[in-house]
Amino acid sequence: MCGIVGILGTGPVAAQIVEALKRLEYRGYDSAGIATLEAGRLTRRRAEGKLRNLEIRLAEQPLGGAVGIGHTRWATHGKPTENNAHPHASDKLAVVHNGIIENFRELREELLAAGHQFVTQTDTEVVAHLVTHAMRGGLGPREAVAACLPRLRGAFALAFLFDGEDNLLIGARQGAPLAVGYGDGEMYIGSDALALAPFTDSITYLEDGDWVVLTRDSAQFHDAANNIVQRARQRSQASAFLIDKGNHRHFMAKEIHEQPEVVGRTLAHYLDMSQGRVALPFALPFEARALASITISACGTAYYAGLIAKYWFERFARLPVEIDVASEFRYREAPMRKDGLMIVVSQSGETADTLAGLRYAKDQGQHVLCVVNVLTSTIARESHVVAPTLAGPEIGVASTKAFTCQLSVLACLAIGFARARGTIDASREAELVSQLMALPGLMAEAIKREPATEQLAQFLSKARDVLYLGRGTSFPLALEGALKLKEISYIHAEGYAAGELKHGPIALIDEDMPVIVIAPFDPVFEKTVSNMQEVSARGGKIILIANEKAAHEGAIDAHAIIAMPDMAPDFAPIVYAVPAQLIAYHTAVHMGKDVDQPRNLAKSVTVE
Ligand code: M6R
Repeated sequence: MCGIVGILGTGPVAAQIVEALKRLEYRGYDSAGIATLEAGRLTRRRAEGKLRNLEIRLAEQPLGGAVGIGHTRWATHGKPTENNAHPHASDKLAVVHNGIIENFRELREELLAAGHQFVTQTDTEVVAHLVTHAMRGGLGPREAVAACLPRLRGAFALAFLFDGEDNLLIGARQGAPLAVGYGDGEMYIGSDALALAPFTDSITYLEDGDWVVLTRDSAQFHDAANNIVQRARQRSQASAFLIDKGNHRHFMAKEIHEQPEVVGRTLAHYLDMSQGRVALPFALPFEARALASITISACGTAYYAGLIAKYWFERFARLPVEIDVASEFRYREAPMRKDGLMIVVSQSGETADTLAGLRYAKDQGQHVLCVVNVLTSTIARESHVVAPTLAGPEIGVASTKAFTCQLSVLACLAIGFARARGTIDASREAELVSQLMALPGLMAEAIKREPATEQLAQFLSKARDVLYLGRGTSFPLALEGALKLKEISYIHAEGYAAGELKHGPIALIDEDMPVIVIAPFDPVFEKTVSNMQEVSARGGKIILIANEKAAHEGAIDAHAIIAMPDMAPDFAPIVYAVPAQLIAYHTAVHMGKDVDQPRNLAKSVTVE
């Protein structure tokens, strides 16, 4: 959502804050701002649009001061203008905020009645006024924050800087992540360890409900009941990851190209390759044999990973699987079976709806396993079992390598459960494991098809709508392909189960409609061929992603064929995701779109 950083430094901090914000820009990028204390007085610089606009502003009007806070925004309340950009300030304090203050309207009414004047459309501004009001009533900064936090409802993280207080920052966490970093005579606060990685790898994560008082040589943590508490320090791995694009133009391109490596790394974590079997790197606090059912919940691309995995859990482990998008699941009041397993899937581990679904399932007595990329995330901390994806930081807003790593983990879990439940034997397990082991090489082969995907960019960029079709596990991949295209190119795209074509969407087909068909050579290939004939007969322009031999034997009149390497079909989505991602990427680049930071989106969605 938004990115927060604060630094109590030993020299000027504005440049360091900008450096940290660059690493947080993936969370939101519609405006940015900084506040520091210059000669003890609060001073702000803010700018609409990306961080580089703030950098230009700072070059024109530099900001001194050895203590400061910064923010990069994804707008929830109020347009992304400079006026609505954080930090929001009064004569007493400046505050940056990630999340939503749900009761801001009633607080605003109360503060208006008390004579406060509001100048923005944001929910955050009530926090500035509320704490200011308490300070005008005679409270010091710490007491004022402590008095006001219980009045705020919603999921949020906050960082405060106070006028005249050169050795003080206060942070608070309720539902949205916040970390403290320890330096040499300096202290830091930030939305995640990644932001603080250039300064320190010594980190403490606030627990939910915590607030913290920072000086240059101390961090005093308080829990929600205001007790002083100890919170453990840990070494962050974030600094091990270089956040750069390498030789690529965009993070998305880099992340697509990294997939053979990170999928290989993830699989190696879950497989005993020499024995040809799944070796889960954690103990399960339940018997896979005794499971009654699986429920999967997630959002966006992570949800599509879950949809694909449903086929695997059902086919291999013979477990009934329920799956729903987390924003629906959390409110559905779904009855959940005794001995059920809840699997939540999330790259960031902070997605608000997914977290709420997890909590609901826990309340219903489910075992909860999460598949996450960020191991320090809230979802990881609240789950009974953490199944990590080893994708490394994913910076591009469009999820690519996290998706294929999620699929890799879910495939290993499905095989592991199947073996434990006796629904597959050792030789079938070995066969499936050898298919998994072949995936990195097949993905590298798939990446070699990049020129063919690039050639489609001009054609697709002229389309108003694009239809994606697939059957079996290729159906959720069709949904994912359509999501990739729409989120970065802004071309309207829909994914459909190929068998549903004749139940409605076929009415859309004409000579202007590109239809991307994902059809690995699997048991339903022939049926997909029939659907392609139906498209062809109506003039639709088919782009077929299929094994070359099968594509030609199918005698399809295709506008273009992306010929994929031969492979067993079980885990085809992990390989076929590559051309789907590359098609979206090249189309968006051809159209001049900002593929890493598409409009209106943010990498981590910590609000509803
Ligand atoms: O961090 P999460 O995996 O929980 O995020 C879920 C979705 O917000 C995310 O997959 C989103 O759909 C991506 N922009 C897709 O590319």
